[in-house]
Amino acid sequence: MTHRREEHLWIPESDLDGMSIDTLAVRAGQIRTGQLEHSDPIFPTSSFVYGSAAQAAARFGGDEPGNIYSRFTNPTVQAFEGRIAAMEGGERAVATASGMAAILSTCIALLKAGEHVVCSRGVFGTTNVLFQKYLARFGVETSFVSLTDMEEWRGAIRDNTRMLFLETPSNPLCEVADLAALSDLARAADALLVVDNCFCTPVLQRPLSQGADIVIHSATKYLDGQGRCVGGVAVGSAKLMEEVYGFLRSAGPTMSPFNAWVFLKGLETLPIRMRAHCDNALELAQWLEQQDAVEEVFYAGLSHHPQHELAARQQDGFGGVLSFRVRGGREQAWSLIDATRMISITANLGDVKTTITHPATTTHGRLSDDDKARAGITENLVRLSVGIESVEDLKQDLARGLAALAAGA
Ligand SMILES: Cc1ncc(COP(=O)(O)O)c(C=O)c1O
Repeated sequence: MTHRREEHLWIPESDLDGMSIDTLAVRAGQIRTGQLEHSDPIFPTSSFVYGSAAQAAARFGGDEPGNIYSRFTNPTVQAFEGRIAAMEGGERAVATASGMAAILSTCIALLKAGEHVVCSRGVFGTTNVLFQKYLARFGVETSFVSLTDMEEWRGAIRDNTRMLFLETPSNPLCEVADLAALSDLARAADALLVVDNCFCTPVLQRPLSQGADIVIHSATKYLDGQGRCVGGVAVGSAKLMEEVYGFLRSAGPTMSPFNAWVFLKGLETLPIRMRAHCDNALELAQWLEQQDAVEEVFYAGLSHHPQHELAARQQDGFGGVLSFRVRGGREQAWSLIDATRMISITANLGDVKTTITHPATTTHGRLSDDDKARAGITENLVRLSVGIESVEDLKQDLARGLAALAAGA
């Protein structure tokens, strides 16, 4: 009897070389057991057994590869790591308990007291707190700069700068950073370029191919895509990820096998979901611009967006998140949010369900008034994470609140 492949337990990496992201999303990283299951298996086990004391010693000593303990070796987690690494074009990924755990693990593993970080001002509020409050206590100082102003980035570099950290597009104002220029700057400064790729996912943007050293994800967002689990991942070279993995093994901010399985299922549909998110978001952004109660719309897919050309060059789509300022202040923004009936009022994003939030009092609520003002988080700003429902139904849900605002204006 001839077999299609000698082993049908996994697809060798070389077979997937050069395949498109649509194929990698479905096929990369899967490890089959002897049961020959078609879907990815879950391994909910804390530890693994050995055939002998000598084998246990060899595994612990690193002389023999294999599973030891699920804080740092679990096959379901490894399958997720293999798939996202292939999609991002990185040598290795390290999965973590949350997106914040991925950022923390990367920083603790690769920075030390006395070193300096330059970070874009518009990053997720909690990332900002992590740098300003916690990493500062351990002697890592951070300077914040405008995401889009290369002069500010250049001016902030010091002799001890070891990391440039950014999100592009930014949350919630959809500003876009020039990855190629920042990569040149990081190289010249002998610093690592770390990009939070949460908003684009590897389907729309692969920062490693544009000179970044590490990509971070909150897997909680689009990688899951259905708002079920919290998780994160860092992707980069084998050398850098070995350091991050070493921290994870010692400190334990580990992804659970169940969550890894959910994320594996999420990745399978990521390419088709991202295209649907992008189509809906562009149409909604164009429609919002025509509404009397709307002062300004932020979405890189709009041709007048200041970084529209850059985004079109650097990304394979403009993403599913947009924000807009209503005429008025907090009262008007809240009344618009409260008038929606289908759209979910929640701070999470990247879900197939459209979500609406008021950044100034939720995601960015912990920022000082000065930091909010500098980051453009005004009281009349509303963020939408556009889902994959019918765009006409989304317009109808928003129209109610917009009409009430326009009447009151
Ligand atoms: C851009 C971005 N990065 C990181 C995070 C943190 O991820 P998590 O909530 O999974 O810790 C978030 C969460 O909202 C985010 O929006």
